[in-house]
Amino acid sequence: MNGNKHEKTELLTGKDFWNTASFDGVKSIRFSDGPSGLRAQEGKGDHLGLNGSAPATCFPAHSALAQSWNRQLCFEVGFAIGNEAKRANVDILLAPDLNIKRSPLCGRNFEYFSEDAYLNGFTGASFARGVQSAGVCACLKHYAANNKERGRMVCDSVVDERTLREIYLTAFEIAVKEANPAAVMTAYNKLNGTYCSENNLLLNDILRGEWGFDGITVSDWGGTSNRAKSCKAGLDIEMPACKLSYAEVVAALKEGTLDESAIEACTQRIKKIANSERAAQDICVRENLVKKCAEECAVLLKNDGTLPLKNSNIVIVGEYAAKPLIQGGGSSKVNPKAAKNLKDILPYKFAYGYKGGKAKRGLEKKALKLCKTADTVIYCMGAVGDFEGADRKDLRMPENQVRLLEKIVKLNKRVVVVLFGGCAVDTSWDKDINALLYAGLSGQDCAAAIADILQGKVNPSGKLAETFPQDLNDLPSTQNFNGNPYYTLYREGMRVGYLSGVKAKYAFGFGLSYTQFRYSDLKADESGASFTIENIGNVYGGEVAQLYIEYPEAANAPAPFLKGFEKVFLNAGESKRVEIKFDNYSFRSYDAKNKKWVRVAGEYKIYIGAASDDFKLNASITLDGVNGVPAPETQNLKPAEYKLNRNKKGRVIVDLNTPLCEVKNAKGTFGRLFAKAALHFVKNKPTVYGSMEYLPLRTMAQFGKMKLKTIEGLILIFNGSYFKGLAKFFKKGKRG
Ligand code: BGC
Repeated sequence: MNGNKHEKTELLTGKDFWNTASFDGVKSIRFSDGPSGLRAQEGKGDHLGLNGSAPATCFPAHSALAQSWNRQLCFEVGFAIGNEAKRANVDILLAPDLNIKRSPLCGRNFEYFSEDAYLNGFTGASFARGVQSAGVCACLKHYAANNKERGRMVCDSVVDERTLREIYLTAFEIAVKEANPAAVMTAYNKLNGTYCSENNLLLNDILRGEWGFDGITVSDWGGTSNRAKSCKAGLDIEMPACKLSYAEVVAALKEGTLDESAIEACTQRIKKIANSERAAQDICVRENLVKKCAEECAVLLKNDGTLPLKNSNIVIVGEYAAKPLIQGGGSSKVNPKAAKNLKDILPYKFAYGYKGGKAKRGLEKKALKLCKTADTVIYCMGAVGDFEGADRKDLRMPENQVRLLEKIVKLNKRVVVVLFGGCAVDTSWDKDINALLYAGLSGQDCAAAIADILQGKVNPSGKLAETFPQDLNDLPSTQNFNGNPYYTLYREGMRVGYLSGVKAKYAFGFGLSYTQFRYSDLKADESGASFTIENIGNVYGGEVAQLYIEYPEAANAPAPFLKGFEKVFLNAGESKRVEIKFDNYSFRSYDAKNKKWVRVAGEYKIYIGAASDDFKLNASITLDGVNGVPAPETQNLKPAEYKLNRNKKGRVIVDLNTPLCEVKNAKGTFGRLFAKAALHFVKNKPTVYGSMEYLPLRTMAQFGKMKLKTIEGLILIFNGSYFKGLAKFFKKGKRG
């Protein structure tokens, strides 16, 4: 391309899987995942965690980290991962992940902080500030409304603007304004009919225009549809090395649908970030940070006094005691430096009881025999489905694990369950157990942390960052989660998670401690609220005090929103005055009709609670209105039309945007066989299958695997034009 007048396009797309080109005075940028530790690949690159990566510290997944409700800890984790990235010469770390957990069914929820925008935004902002303090750029992802995995590259998230602003964009807004990240990654999906990577409203109007973002935007890997359109909409870099871009950009320039000035704007922004010097700050990371995190991430959901364990005859059962679940699967997968297990740390006799997903009678028998010798059984269970590329069908735990638990319970022993996993699960099996500790996916040192909690050396202080529903079907998002793969109507509007008013099994914000706290003396005015917390138990412990605000009726807002939180640690008998200031997010509602934020006049009820369903104190303040009253969310959501091209016989006419699974109905027999074979081949690898099922054919060029003419040749063949297709397939040419 050198010597060509469009040589700047070189900068608009990756040079290879992880790097951009160095060109005309602009330095190359090196990217790496990710959210729970560095996934730096020296060898073959991939975006699903399939190939190896250099050993790195595996920190808790975002879902677990959020359960600490500790901003300082999130900062430190960001800083520590940033440090490892700096040492590996990574310029941009692809984290934090800020999508809202719209439904517990989303397979990638473990990578996200919370169902709540405020918690999500502030924990994410702290993480991003941490990364950037290490002299590495943070990249917020996936912007925006990327809330399910199935069909993620073709699906249109149809969201009314009020919901979009108040729920799905707020976390990004908070993180942009609080942390000033250098990069934002666009999501794979469409938003209201337009790919996020081509979405002028998201990129130019809101991100840059309204929030003042001055960094670069980068596509998700293979997540562009047309490079010219995305360039025009303000997408600076497309990743990885895409072989379609040049042709698309040149064609658009020729047609006059793209102006050179758009390319220039992207180039200038890339140059600014690529050439900036970023010094690491001198910050001391505490020793044992990963273990410390895991201690604060674990949530005690149930306890009749069995925990902490007393001196008694204890045994430990379950595969996950030998191999704890420390992380989820996909692009966030870290090659952990070390991971210990619970059975080797705790001095108790151990039996597997189960291995994998099938009941094994021999293992069960041995475990039950061991349990009979004990008076307390620690039973480790692990959820399934925490990976990128696919969603869950339900929240049930594997049947073999539940069956064995039922058998253990029948032995009339005290039973403590340690639950691993990155997402709310059905816990209807917990009625006859004595204690339940939710360990989440909390990184390589989680076993040591869990052991200390079980033994009472550490007092648990985590609180849920998402609702565990009594029944999945009670959540309004469930009805609108998995219908047509090509679009999702966000009909529940703002009623996501606890905001839906759902009766929870374990509520958002809930978590027990080995001590108790008393709340008293709330004072609230226009600037904030203050109150006293006292540790009235016998041991040192941490409490997360939560501030919720109920809006005046005219605001048409759902049940009280979380608008502040503070974690405090207190010795037995100690008390502390806690102050939570109101901020720009406390009293605002979005008026989609007039396109502005408003403050509704009236009485705002302030609640201080230990969970979203456990308010301890309340007060109210009355505020004047600003800008009027917002309309409720619109119920009239319509997807943009998505039509597959078909011939008269109903066969699909394949083009670059046709997803692989639809090629199964192509006109040409070869195409049908090709798609069936490709999907059959990966059917037992859910991450790969999920990612491939709705993969548009264009991505074969986007991942740098094929030249454009090769794919065009294939498409002709898929459509039954064998000779023309073969001629194109084998034609020689320099550029795609
Ligand atoms: C994921 C991103 C990730 C990228 C690179 C994509 O599949 O959605 O979160 O950063 O791959 O690995």
